[in-house]
Amino acid sequence: MEVSAKNDPLLVRACRHEVLERPPVWFMRQAGRYMPEYRALRQKYSFLESCKNVDIATEISLQPYHAFGMDAVIMFCDILIPPEAMGMKLDFGDKGPCFESAIRTRADVEALSIPDPMDDMGFVMNLLSNLRRELANDPDTALIGFAGCPWTLASYMIEGGVSKNFAHLRRMMYDDPDLLHLLLDKLTQTVTAYLNAQIEAGAQVVQLFDTWGGILDRAGYQEFIQPYHRKIMKGLNRSQTPVILYVNGSAHLLELMAEVQPDVISVDWLTTLEEARQRVGNEMVLQGNLDPIALLTRPDVLEPMVRDMITQGGHQNYIFNVGHGLIPSTPVENVRLAVDTVKSWNRQLATVGN
Ligand code: CP3
Repeated sequence: MEVSAKNDPLLVRACRHEVLERPPVWFMRQAGRYMPEYRALRQKYSFLESCKNVDIATEISLQPYHAFGMDAVIMFCDILIPPEAMGMKLDFGDKGPCFESAIRTRADVEALSIPDPMDDMGFVMNLLSNLRRELANDPDTALIGFAGCPWTLASYMIEGGVSKNFAHLRRMMYDDPDLLHLLLDKLTQTVTAYLNAQIEAGAQVVQLFDTWGGILDRAGYQEFIQPYHRKIMKGLNRSQTPVILYVNGSAHLLELMAEVQPDVISVDWLTTLEEARQRVGNEMVLQGNLDPIALLTRPDVLEPMVRDMITQGGHQNYIFNVGHGLIPSTPVENVRLAVDTVKSWNRQLATVGN
């Protein structure tokens, strides 16, 4: 990354190791069902319609920013849009995402196309440029783009939807690893081009989500996940744009995540920030890692947890976030309390100093 300009968003400055007055704050899944504004819109539009209608997706992306003033807006979309663009029919029902038919054979993998980001997912790039226009008067707030990682996308494509034990995916890994590699390779090409198009369209930071990366041991991770993380990192246009890598269930994987050299590692709540720092070194920026369920507790329990996290994370090399996405029953007052606590951190230090 090149040296940053003074007027870059706080989040970008944190990714560049700048010493800050306070850490930036945003939340994975900060837009969604815990917000009444979101639920109201979803009465009128299905989830996929909301993602694909640029005006609706713009409004939803901005809802948490307007309500709570996070330091970043993450585009409202889903990690399963690229598999749909590769030729799979996607539906979001009551039980979460579902593909009409799963990928099980070589013919299935070969039939998948490598989409052109603009031709096949242009609404995502339109959403990002629209959001950059909306944020033009607020250069402190960053716009985040994202993609799912090949392993996690493959899990949904092979299982056909949400899964408990990933039996089809893991069976393919044992029965026909070459076929799985073929699929992961196609996904890597797709994700790399997609993220570069997002950067071109105005994403100032991009986050990679490997939600199911933690189900493999270290050897499995080194064979089926890490090479593709590495290829994506090498293929991205990173000169201006930091990359955050999130793997859920990553306690045994942090060193391997650091090896592919993302700008930021997003830590889940099973590893303390202190331990993560020791294991990946001070040069790596950390993001995380409040247990999202802590946001369901009483304010007098939550607030000290947030403060403790900022004390651990510090004001350099740290981005305040949750360890996994917010859940629908999260009380909005607690989200507000967490954001306010982080944003008033510097003022508190000044008060202590007086
Ligand atoms: O963070 C944000 O605010 C941006 C929006 C966002 C969504 N999905 C919206 C969404 C992001 C970054 C995602 C990523 C995503 N999608 C992941 C990786 C992150 C993670 O949480 O682990 C995964 C695994 C998916 C796939 C997915 N999408 C599932 C399993 C589900 C069903 C579970 C659920 O929460 O309903 C979705 C649906 C989904 N994606 C919703 C939202 C707001 C809920 C849709 C609705 O009913 O309104």
